[in-house]
Amino acid sequence: MEGRKNFGAKGVITPLPVLIIGTYDENGNPDAMNAAWGGQCGPRHITIHLSKHKTTENIVLKKAFTVAFADAKHVVESDYLGLVSANKVPDKIEKAGLHVVNSEFVDAPVICEYPLTIECKLLSFQDDGNGGVVIGEIVNLSASESVLDEEGNIDLGKVAPIMFDSAKNYYRVVGEVVGNAFKDGAALM
Ligand SMILES: Cc1cc2nc3c(=O)[nH]c(=O)nc-3n(C[C@H](O)[C@H](O)[C@H](O)COP(=O)(O)O)c2cc1C
Repeated sequence: MEGRKNFGAKGVITPLPVLIIGTYDENGNPDAMNAAWGGQCGPRHITIHLSKHKTTENIVLKKAFTVAFADAKHVVESDYLGLVSANKVPDKIEKAGLHVVNSEFVDAPVICEYPLTIECKLLSFQDDGNGGVVIGEIVNLSASESVLDEEGNIDLGKVAPIMFDSAKNYYRVVGEVVGNAFKDGAALM
């Protein structure tokens, strides 16, 4: 058997998404941050681990947030949203050259430039003293027409979502189709 190297208590579950969390603060000012420590934990639920950020305060205050998927077209903007806090740069969304509209479903902003966005209400926030775990319930998913196929379904190939490579701190594009779920394994039945 090939030799293996141990890295200790370090996770590199792949893919880690690049989620852009959109919120409003107490004055209705929009904020957005980059979060990789999250994912979908059921058909209608998502979970994210957040440290103490402006976004974290906003989610607890408004009990709502949006989750857009960073795409290959907006790598620089998405990384910027993870480098700068609205506590120091209140107009970080504008500085990133991004635009927002109100969600029709929750009290949170939808960022126009990202083609795919989930709108969530807060179900729970488990405070761990240094931030906590957010669990949200999905109330709507919206997609720009540019990423729909001829039948009106979402085509992830057109979205070109990016993932966070925590082993090397790279952003990688989520790529090609290599198989069919619930089907290809049947070849071994
Ligand atoms: C690739 C990347 C992934 C990140 N993932 C997370 C995360 O999962 N949880 C978290 O609390 N912060 C994460 N951050 C840091 C926040 O995005 C960053 O602190 C941001 O400035 C917070 O913005 P805010 O204070 O305006 O809310 C990440 C940053 C980057 C660049």
